[in-house]
Amino acid sequence: LDGALLAGRRVVVTAGGTREPLDPVRYLGNRSSGKQGVALARAALAAGAEVTLVGANLQVEAPAGVDLVTVETSEQLRGAVLSATTDADVVIMAAAVADFRPRSLAAHKIKKSEDGTDPVIELTRTPDILAEISAHRARPGQVIVGFAAETGDDTHTPLEFARAKLARKGCDALVLNEVTDGAVFGQDSTAVHVVTPDGQVAEATGSKDDVAVFLVRTIAGIAASTVGR
Ligand code: C5P
Repeated sequence: LDGALLAGRRVVVTAGGTREPLDPVRYLGNRSSGKQGVALARAALAAGAEVTLVGANLQVEAPAGVDLVTVETSEQLRGAVLSATTDADVVIMAAAVADFRPRSLAAHKIKKSEDGTDPVIELTRTPDILAEISAHRARPGQVIVGFAAETGDDTHTPLEFARAKLARKGCDALVLNEVTDGAVFGQDSTAVHVVTPDGQVAEATGSKDDVAVFLVRTIAGIAASTVGR
């Protein structure tokens, strides 16, 4: 990577997966390891950027040289993103953020009932951070990139879902991970499509590090074309 590619640019990367507490000992979580986001932070550093990494329950080590903000829940991640993006040129939302959380946090550990009835956990939607920061850009020309893991269904391909999600979220690019052939979570290699509002699709396959380098180049290209927008 060319160390001048993102020189002087501030890049915020979110990585990992959020955990939503249910009671003092339990949470709802997901299988995201943080590998792809951490690889993106490393690639952005190599491209000369100043990098803030918002890490949610990372299972891999954060690269030396990033400004690391550690969070656990989607609410904490939202706070960290809103504060870090105020002066960011590029925001890459690679973290798997919970779409739902338990409606209430029990003060004490939830016990098995005496009469054997099953507990019911009520869920509520979490705020969509990507849609929020895309709708209210902290600075003009800020480039915002989202991620989506899609399987497709009987009538839609994963790419069709990705295009719809790009439009719905209002971001500048969406990185699609197809999970049809099994999970990408925790793996070292991956395959992605990058969709942009102009209808272009770029693809890359390889290690998460190789894909991160490809994504940073692609994102730097978008950033160069939005200067002064
Ligand atoms: O809607 P979905 O969860 O598939 O969207 C994934 C993208 O949106 C990811 O970039 C993720 O970081 C972001 N997201 C978010 N806030 C949420 C849920 C997802 O910013 N509450």
